[in-house]
Amino acid sequence: MKTYIWSLPTRLFHWLLAIGFTVAYILGDFDNLENWHFAFGAFVGALIFFRLLFGLFGPKYSNFKDFPIALKNQKEFIRSYFSKSKTYVGHNPVASVIMLLILIIGILCSISGYLLYAAENNVLSSGINEGLLEESHEFLATVFLVLVGIHLFGVLSDTLFHRKTGTIQSIFTGNKNIESKNTHLNGFHITFSLLWFIIPAVVFYLAYGLQNNETKKENRIESREYHGDDD
Ligand code: HEM
Ligand code: HEM
Repeated sequence: MKTYIWSLPTRLFHWLLAIGFTVAYILGDFDNLENWHFAFGAFVGALIFFRLLFGLFGPKYSNFKDFPIALKNQKEFIRSYFSKSKTYVGHNPVASVIMLLILIIGILCSISGYLLYAAENNVLSSGINEGLLEESHEFLATVFLVLVGIHLFGVLSDTLFHRKTGTIQSIFTGNKNIESKNTHLNGFHITFSLLWFIIPAVVFYLAYGLQNNETKKENRIESREYHGDDD
């Protein structure tokens, strides 16, 4: 008795997001690896942008209309958490809220990072105060990290209390040990998924090439040395 819930694009998105966020977060503190930070950070933003669209047009369980976020679902979920009287096939009500918050905070974090870069380097500057952008970017990154912590706690607790459902295995194989309707990708979903992973890869490449004040300075020095201009 198995049901196919998370199709390949959702699972691929999940693991690329997990890697992208972890690397971007760690590199945020390394000035000498700033371009890698831009690349992974922008990659995360682009991945999430496509996940938001997939939430609107995507298949069963990954579609936002299958996220049971209503207050009555939250109450019922909390009341019956230990009694196991109700099993949720896709995300449970609390997980649905956390997932949506991860997507919203994640994309805002990526956008604020780009605006900060633009303000620091005077390119297409948004006019927003640089200090405010720096604070917001750091704050959003911290909230993102806290949400990931809550998510991992939720997965762990689900594994302890609802072991038979096989939630952890589902993000690797796509299947949960539940009897319900399988998810199914149509032609549109498949074409969309190709763009979903190609465009963030292009964004990664472009963001890596962003020039910061340091690289601009190095380029000027190199070009002066090349032309033998030492004034
Ligand atoms: C930085 C690390 C991580 C982030 C940002 C993250 C984020 C997310 C997001 C956004 C979803 C929703 C997927 C969707 O609907 O498209 C999700 C689902 C899920 N994640 Fe993670 N995740 C991370 C790490 C992990 C790890 C380490 C595990 C455990 C092995 C894990 C297990 C799961 C599971 C089992 C689900 C499906 C939950 C369900 O069926 O309701 N995640 N995660
Ligand atoms: C969701 C993706 C991202 C995460 C999780 C993230 C995380 C971080 C973190 C943790 C810091 C260090 C904050 C501090 O302690 O001062 C940081 C700094 C920064 N980030 Fe991001 N970031 C992301 C995306 C981006 C993007 C897309 C860009 C630009 C294209 C960017 C540009 C910057 C800049 C310019 C700094 C300040 C570096 C400095 O002046 O010291 N970030 N980010």
